[in-house]
Amino acid sequence: MSRELWSSRTGFILAAAGSAVGLGNIWKFPYLAGKFGGGAFLLAYLILVFTIVKVVMLSEIAIGRAANKNAVGAFASLHNRRWKIVGYMGVVACFMVLSFYSVVAGWTIYYTVEMVSGSLSGLQPDALTGKFEEFIADPSLPVIYHGIFMLMVIAIVIRGIKGGIEKVSTLLMPALFIIIIALILRGFMLDGAMKGLEFYLVPDWSQLGDFDLWSAALGQAFFSLSLGMGTMLTYGSYLDKKENLPNTSFQVAFIDTAVAFLAGLLVFPAVFSFGFDNTAGPGLTFIILPAVFNQMFGGQLFGILFFILLFFAALTSAISILEVMTSYWSEEKGVCRKKSAVIFGLLTFFMGVACSYSLGIWADVTLSSILGINIDLEVFNLGVFDFLDYVSSNILLPLGGLLILIFAGWIKPKRIMDEITNNGKVDFYWKNAFIIMTKYISPIAIGYLLLNSIGII
Ligand code: PHE
Repeated sequence: MSRELWSSRTGFILAAAGSAVGLGNIWKFPYLAGKFGGGAFLLAYLILVFTIVKVVMLSEIAIGRAANKNAVGAFASLHNRRWKIVGYMGVVACFMVLSFYSVVAGWTIYYTVEMVSGSLSGLQPDALTGKFEEFIADPSLPVIYHGIFMLMVIAIVIRGIKGGIEKVSTLLMPALFIIIIALILRGFMLDGAMKGLEFYLVPDWSQLGDFDLWSAALGQAFFSLSLGMGTMLTYGSYLDKKENLPNTSFQVAFIDTAVAFLAGLLVFPAVFSFGFDNTAGPGLTFIILPAVFNQMFGGQLFGILFFILLFFAALTSAISILEVMTSYWSEEKGVCRKKSAVIFGLLTFFMGVACSYSLGIWADVTLSSILGINIDLEVFNLGVFDFLDYVSSNILLPLGGLLILIFAGWIKPKRIMDEITNNGKVDFYWKNAFIIMTKYISPIAIGYLLLNSIGII
């Protein structure tokens, strides 16, 4: 059976950007920036994305298109079976990421419903915080929304890349962009908005000496660009041989970073204007934006539109994650696409239930408590949700990225370079920089920050 391809280059860019742009940009980026000092985090993030991480993006897409296979099969077909381990790691990371991702995506459905019903209207930030905390800790409601979300993801992945994934992305990205801009303009008019902009845009240079900030920015860059776990590899495998990979991958990285940047512009003026705690964590976007909507003329309508679009942005990302697992199982093991999507989807759903419970009734369940030992390392003392988030973003994805670079820079440099340049037909003006980055600079930097995340340095 021949594999499907994207119907056009724009189709790929939209689908890849659809994968990249999601909760990572609008939910996670602002709260991490808030936690790590605002401007310093933004600066570190931008530096990493446009140097170290950019070459991972290009390498990963090139590996996928060179092999024309799923994440596991690609490494075996380009080199040998031992390298399949990188693909397997990716599949495991997908399972971990999707399980908590789908829970947060479920929150976007809940907030859409609440906006429609008007029950958030007129609430002060304190009351909105209470409402958010009560909701995420509830044992049934978030699980129901998480289930609804997962069902939609499964249904779309079953239909395959063109029928499902590409069409959904084409419409939504521009719409999301427009509404964010409108909201930012309103946010700028709030009293005290300037303080928020200053926090977000002016770095406190001393904070750049903190390696935890860099590790967090690196993990976030991988997460936000959907790298290190086979997503871009799989999407690249559906890309036509004629397309220009350096340009295409740059455009995807640029769109994704622009949306994350705008999300910060949206959130921080409001955070400071309402005297909110910028280190509030995962609730930041969900609490602060309804507070902005409450101050706006037509705020309810904006709120409804915003959460619907955020939901769709999450959907196109979640689809790309389930696609990695599904294409692996169906191509490598001959399981039909439908069965493969349903089984992986269900497994992920159950893990997601544990994630959701860990924000409420299972708050005390940690690795330390399960093993009955007391270890003073961060990973041992996180609940299920935070554990999966931390281990995937800060460890598995950068590790996957490191191995991808070793593969592209040391194991198959010629094959990958031929792929990137379409056998010399594309003029790749930063070729030498790419080689130095892929072989030396990026692997060393990622390796160092990885050891920092694990707690060895
Ligand atoms: N990049 C997506 C986001 O920012 C999440 C994602 C991570 C998707 C990893 C695929 C792979 O929301």
